[in-house]
Amino acid sequence: MGKKILLENDHVPGIRGYDVYRSKGGYASVEKALKSMTPEAVTEEVKKSGLRGRGGAGFPTGMKWGFLAKPPGVARYLICNADESEPGTFKDRYLMERIPHLLIEGMITSSYALGVKTSYIYIRGEYFYIARILEEAIDEAYKAGWLGTNILGTGYDLDLYVHVGAGAYICGEETALLESLEGKRGNPRIKPPFPAVEGLYGCPTVVNNVETIAAVVSIINQGGAAYAAIGIGKSTGTKLISASGHINKPGVYEIELGVPVEEFIYSDEYCGGIRNGKKLKAVVAGGSSVPILPAGLILKTAAGEPRLMTYESLADGGFATGTMLGSGGFIVMDETTSIVKNLWNFTRFYQHESCGQCSPCREGTLWMEKVLRRIVGGQGALRDIDLLWDVQSNIEGKTICPFGDAAAWPVASAIRHFRKEFEEYVTHPEKISDVKHYYSVNNLPVA
Ligand SMILES: Cc1cc2nc3c(=O)[nH]c(=O)nc-3n(C[C@H](O)[C@H](O)[C@H](O)COP(=O)(O)O)c2cc1C
Repeated sequence: MGKKILLENDHVPGIRGYDVYRSKGGYASVEKALKSMTPEAVTEEVKKSGLRGRGGAGFPTGMKWGFLAKPPGVARYLICNADESEPGTFKDRYLMERIPHLLIEGMITSSYALGVKTSYIYIRGEYFYIARILEEAIDEAYKAGWLGTNILGTGYDLDLYVHVGAGAYICGEETALLESLEGKRGNPRIKPPFPAVEGLYGCPTVVNNVETIAAVVSIINQGGAAYAAIGIGKSTGTKLISASGHINKPGVYEIELGVPVEEFIYSDEYCGGIRNGKKLKAVVAGGSSVPILPAGLILKTAAGEPRLMTYESLADGGFATGTMLGSGGFIVMDETTSIVKNLWNFTRFYQHESCGQCSPCREGTLWMEKVLRRIVGGQGALRDIDLLWDVQSNIEGKTICPFGDAAAWPVASAIRHFRKEFEEYVTHPEKISDVKHYYSVNNLPVA
């Protein structure tokens, strides 16, 4: 059994409530940090741990905290990004639903390290029921004296609020999130300035993912070095993986970074193999945005090395033969899956969710969806495949925020690795038996 840090107690009855959480050693990191460590020492432990942001980009957390500007007399903010809208990713939901106090504890310890007195959890609108769970847990934490003024008699004050978004994927992008939190339309900001210098209300701000903040609890309790001892190389610690698709045991798994992909898919400890004894066809390893890989390349690198669940191993080979760990949304597809239809599904999502601020993304996602709909509907031409390639390449890297890349990469990788399948859709439309998903220009099903 791999080591569990975040989900050590997720099955303990009543762990959602304060008393049981506390009885399992909850809030020890706050006690330790506030009573025996300086804020700088807490940040130092996070740096030592090698923890990398779990929201997708994998940026070193301690380094990000180190960038936070500290002009005297200016407020600073910590925001937990609980927007979790990436198709295939549902690990933050699990963590917040099961162990809300772990996130709250992480928020207090992290806020102390950053010298923050007001923090927010920005949660996606569709998770309204989890917002309630969090609010109940926050009330319990206030009552028990972990939040509010003069926490543990140390003179440290902190208020924590939950802010519910309105259901837009783009509001997970950290600067769109800041706009939304300020009450404006969630359009990403041009960087620089980065949030660490000019974030919420123009003040220095750190934005971190739910899982990142929860991991701080163990880092402070056990020490950064103990955390860094788990995992491989620059992929330290554990990672929550949302496993879905054609597997026997879909769910949220906590893995030690470094588990071989093959073991993750086939062992009973994790996904338990492919459903109905079918063959593996492809995997989207890190949420819908990351490049899809065919079975051969997800199990082994182009050099024939076993592919591991680490930031580095999954990226081995660049986008020619590799992918990304991303947010850990691991979508498994068996031999019956249509890569083309799946791509159309993803692309419809991106077209719907583009904020529309940048022309390449606004127009490009629309055109990719139209062309794919044509191909899936049996009305495509071979030149449409090149057109798709052309459109995606005119989005990638040409937008204010990485949403454009996120929409382009699935298209580029599907064509790169499964071009024949696209050609078959075009040359043998009679093979396409299922037209149920054919949608009109307004995205309404055609009768
Ligand atoms: C379109 C888009 C959506 C995103 N959605 C999320 C999200 O739901 N949750 C999240 O933590 N990060 C999301 N991110 C990444 C954030 O911008 C940011 O990098 C992250 O919250 C930083 O936290 P971390 O350093 O702990 O990973 C998204 C980025 C983009 C471009």
